[in-house]
Amino acid sequence: MSLKEDLTRFGQAHLLRFESQLTADQRERFRQQLAQIDFPQLQRLLANQDETVDWSALARSAVPPPAVRLDRQHPDFNSQQAVETGRQALADGRVGLILVAGGQGTRLGFDQPKGLFPIGPISQRTLFQMHCDRLLALSRRYQVSIPLFVMTSPATDAATRAYFEENDRCGLAEEDLIIFCQGSMPAVDAATGRILMATTSSLALSPDGHGGLVAALERHGCLEQAKQRGIDLFTYAQVDNPLAELCNAELIGYHLLSRSQLTTHVVKKRFAKEKVGNVVSVDGKVQIIEYSDLPDTVAEQRDAAGELKLWAGNIAVHVFDRTFLESVVASADGLPFHRASKVVPFIDEVGKLVEPQTANAIKFERFVFDLLPLAERAFVVEGDASQVFAPVKNANGAAVDTPNTAQTALLNLHRDWLTAAGAHVPDSLRVEIHPHWALDADDTKRQLAELDIAFEADTFLR
Ligand code: UTP
Repeated sequence: MSLKEDLTRFGQAHLLRFESQLTADQRERFRQQLAQIDFPQLQRLLANQDETVDWSALARSAVPPPAVRLDRQHPDFNSQQAVETGRQALADGRVGLILVAGGQGTRLGFDQPKGLFPIGPISQRTLFQMHCDRLLALSRRYQVSIPLFVMTSPATDAATRAYFEENDRCGLAEEDLIIFCQGSMPAVDAATGRILMATTSSLALSPDGHGGLVAALERHGCLEQAKQRGIDLFTYAQVDNPLAELCNAELIGYHLLSRSQLTTHVVKKRFAKEKVGNVVSVDGKVQIIEYSDLPDTVAEQRDAAGELKLWAGNIAVHVFDRTFLESVVASADGLPFHRASKVVPFIDEVGKLVEPQTANAIKFERFVFDLLPLAERAFVVEGDASQVFAPVKNANGAAVDTPNTAQTALLNLHRDWLTAAGAHVPDSLRVEIHPHWALDADDTKRQLAELDIAFEADTFLR
């Protein structure tokens, strides 16, 4: 069947409208874009447009997930056991790290991939450099190499690769840095389902969401590569959280002790309608209900102690069994797609650029947290937000989740480590700690036992 017949069958023949005007090169690239599109899948997604989840009903049957809480003893295991178990797994070289860095970072308004954002409050280290520094310090602590799998998207791939090349892979060994690119999905016209064109020779494409991770890991042979290296656990974080405790031994330990396939680090919500995903359990399956889908009455529910019943806020830090990801790849459907109404510029039938003011298009995205209900066993571990979560989402000036708030959180954490170790840091000074100097409060204590530091200016301890 010719391409034209194929496209006609899927109601997308308009895509060939400008083909006769293209140069051979443009035509080749355009055909490559078309070849990447799974038209039957897109047709299924468009056909199911009216299928909606009754979140309200779902939320009403939601209960707190199986979890280890910070302020109470778990009946089956304790923190010390978890830390020891996790440390052993790390030392045995069973753990790899995935960082997702394919997002377009529109809210931050930074013109490069977010991983290149200089976030170190004093050092000005980039987000990538900070994560790699931590990884290298962990490698040193456990005397093992921990491979880093960085997921990019067509929007961030070239600049990310160039960055790592120009910066000596941020210190990582060549075999320990694996960069792979996620897939794209076309944006379609909301009224007609027709794929929008960005120019006469290109489609309006965007990354297929962080949930594109699972298919991308498989497509690029990362799961196989990990298996060959003896890695059966992946820790996962988003590039834009400089506080993420990558490869946290306690989290990994709880994952193993609870025999979970997917364990997620969460924080206690500060108030009922906080803008985070709610990690809950429905009919025995752990899943996330977005804050916008949680009815107020459900969000406000309290337990006997007067605490929020649905307390667990998603921070997108997880541990996956490699075999679990392999089973999702092998399943027929993989992760579901979510649709979002967006403003997407496009060219009209005469090739003129149209820049709509209101949402005109539907984009399709997969989310990593949709892995949760697919797991036979999922587990939840509470972390302290001030120690593990400071996302960089918005530009400075916004009320929350900005570079400024992340830097303040980082400085506060490091100040806490120093103060707990007996140091005096004047309020007017800032101290940033490199993971090579100390990875945590205990390391800080050991360092200060041997050093006598008087803080007289902003200091970068490294
Ligand atoms: P966000 O959903 O916060 O998106 O991604 P973003 O791109 O960082 O920012 P906005 O919404 O455009 O302002 C959370 C994490 O998931 C990654 C991002 O790189 C970030 O680490 N991500 C998101 C991907 O890797 N791929 C995607 O398709 C989407």
